[in-house]
Amino acid sequence: MIFRLFNLLFLELILILPLSDSLIAISDKQRAPINPPLPYTTDQFKENANLQSSDIFTEAKQDPEAFWEKQANCLNWFHPWDQVLEWNPPDAKWFNGGKLNACYNCLDRHMQTETRNKIAIYWEGERGEKKSLTYEDLYIEVNKFSNVLKSLGVQKGDRVAIYLPMIPEAVVAILSCARIGAIHTVVFGGFSADSLANRILDAEAKLLITADGGFRKGKVVTLKEAADTAIEQCPCIKNTIVIKHTDLPVDMQLEKDHWYHDLMKEAPATCPPEEMDAEDTLFILYTSGTTGKPKGIIHTTGGYMVGATMTTRWVFDIKPSDIYWCTADIGWITGHTYVIYGPLSNGMTQLLYEGVFDWPERNRPWQLIEKYGVTILYTAPTAIRTFMKWGEEWINGCNISSLRLLGSVGEPINPEAWMWYYTIIGKKKCPIVDTWWQTETGSIMIAPIPGITPLKPGSATFPLPGINALILNDLGEPSSSGSLVLTSPWPSMLRGIYNDRARYEKSYWKQLGNGYYFTGDGAMKDDEGYFWLTGRIDDIIKVSGHRLSTAEIESALVDFKGVAEAAVIGVSDQIKGQAIVAFVVLKEDFIFDGSLESTLKQHVVKQISAIARPERIIFIYELPKTRSGKIMRRLLRDIAEGRLLGDTMTLTDPSVLEEIKNKYNED
Ligand code: WTA
Repeated sequence: MIFRLFNLLFLELILILPLSDSLIAISDKQRAPINPPLPYTTDQFKENANLQSSDIFTEAKQDPEAFWEKQANCLNWFHPWDQVLEWNPPDAKWFNGGKLNACYNCLDRHMQTETRNKIAIYWEGERGEKKSLTYEDLYIEVNKFSNVLKSLGVQKGDRVAIYLPMIPEAVVAILSCARIGAIHTVVFGGFSADSLANRILDAEAKLLITADGGFRKGKVVTLKEAADTAIEQCPCIKNTIVIKHTDLPVDMQLEKDHWYHDLMKEAPATCPPEEMDAEDTLFILYTSGTTGKPKGIIHTTGGYMVGATMTTRWVFDIKPSDIYWCTADIGWITGHTYVIYGPLSNGMTQLLYEGVFDWPERNRPWQLIEKYGVTILYTAPTAIRTFMKWGEEWINGCNISSLRLLGSVGEPINPEAWMWYYTIIGKKKCPIVDTWWQTETGSIMIAPIPGITPLKPGSATFPLPGINALILNDLGEPSSSGSLVLTSPWPSMLRGIYNDRARYEKSYWKQLGNGYYFTGDGAMKDDEGYFWLTGRIDDIIKVSGHRLSTAEIESALVDFKGVAEAAVIGVSDQIKGQAIVAFVVLKEDFIFDGSLESTLKQHVVKQISAIARPERIIFIYELPKTRSGKIMRRLLRDIAEGRLLGDTMTLTDPSVLEEIKNKYNED
């Protein structure tokens, strides 16, 4: 039902006149396919685009392995591979036998070219502090820090946890791990101590890299304090390296805690990069699945780097003179692939900004774009909708004419937001690349190649060259709407879930069998073959682009002493895409003074993160359950979205719905 609504909405919105300032619906008679050309990409952009011919799609179709083999030459290899692909579903090995180093590809190889003196990172802190690092500066810092890691006993294959704000040292930390073959696991700095501890324990990390704090909305985030609480539960952590960033006084334990700047003073200047097998793990990144426990997604070196490097080239149409700004945090996959590995391996100059968009005022992003001459902006629909809400006046005072390409990621972008982004930010001269992908896919899967693909507002368009996607209906047959699957392996695909083979098979491969990768996303295809992503079809929700599992939030809620049961759903939200609503049943003898709703919300924040804070908590006497005890979240979603209730026959007690409906509507 949700999809049907979405589809209708999208279909209605495709039917707009693209050039008009106001969005005018067109009549049935005019509903002929607008093909070709769609006017969203200017001729000037197309003429200057790196890729202008769709031959690349044909080439990839004709011989996929030869195609990927050719793409792999975008990297420097110490030793060539023996075989392009070994595919025993669900296990893929790409470029097996090949040897390379991800850090070498991001830094060392630029030392022989003029990129050496190019700015790699312009960094700006929330309070306006500035730093810029050339590729050579970064190379020197990474060599030294690699030696620091080694001096603390970190070896190839060891796991290193990184819990940092968006500061240049975060890039240094990640690349240094890659250099010595240690596996990094970055934990978003907004996660709580408990979330950090769970991830450290699952990954059995040996060392933690953190900072005394970070800045957010003018306040200091006490990262070291959270890290201390976390590692009390983590005997595997032998050492912590602390970066001084805020000057906040912190507790340093003599044996275990080391200041970054002290260690760096002593560190030797060169550290040769480790020769890694293409299939050696590069990183583990935790993400939410459909159960309470996050999944440690494994990415390996060769295939991931090919995917990251090539998709950055194709989708962002990069030029040596670009100043690129991806607003994602390094704690998410977008930060890994499109802040660290993709841009750096391509020798790009990028802006790294630590703070929030409305600090000190709502014009901060546009001031940054003006100041640094940003040409490519890659951000999330939730940010775009927030900018829309704040209004154009914040943009008008800034000169953002340097922009030439805009990107979107993390959730479906509604056509209205797409048009606003195109018109107000892009001034109708910047194509928009709506990029669909996942932590698991490692790099962008469905997106336009801006010089080739005619755009439609709200559609991620087509799978990239070498990527094969299908939409299947409930019977598993190809269809124009249903569930999105990827039908062939691709180099940057996940290689597993850390320590959980069964879950890897069950979550992604067993849903359909036949070697198809199950994405968990709903999609539809229009008459011209364009893909329209419609959101998750499982118990994962996307709140402001952040991926959360309803089960994770439910388990945080039932962890509270007075809570007997909880069910969490995502409801549509105009800005955030989805918002969290929790239905909670209290224990009968539980008595509480004060505001239980805010206490419970705070409890979830403490257990997971502020991003998981429920928007609403509704206290009820009973959850709707089937006779076998399964909670019918679908019915809760129906109530929240004001829809007719679906099948209630299987419920133990259908009358509970009436109470829930009244409670939901009364607040
Ligand atoms: C959603 C983020 C529609 C989708 C890179 C996917 C999108 C999940 C888009 C992965 C898009 C991401 N259009 N939906 N352009 N991009 N998604 O792992 O539901 O944080 O499955 O990776 O985000 O979220 P993740």
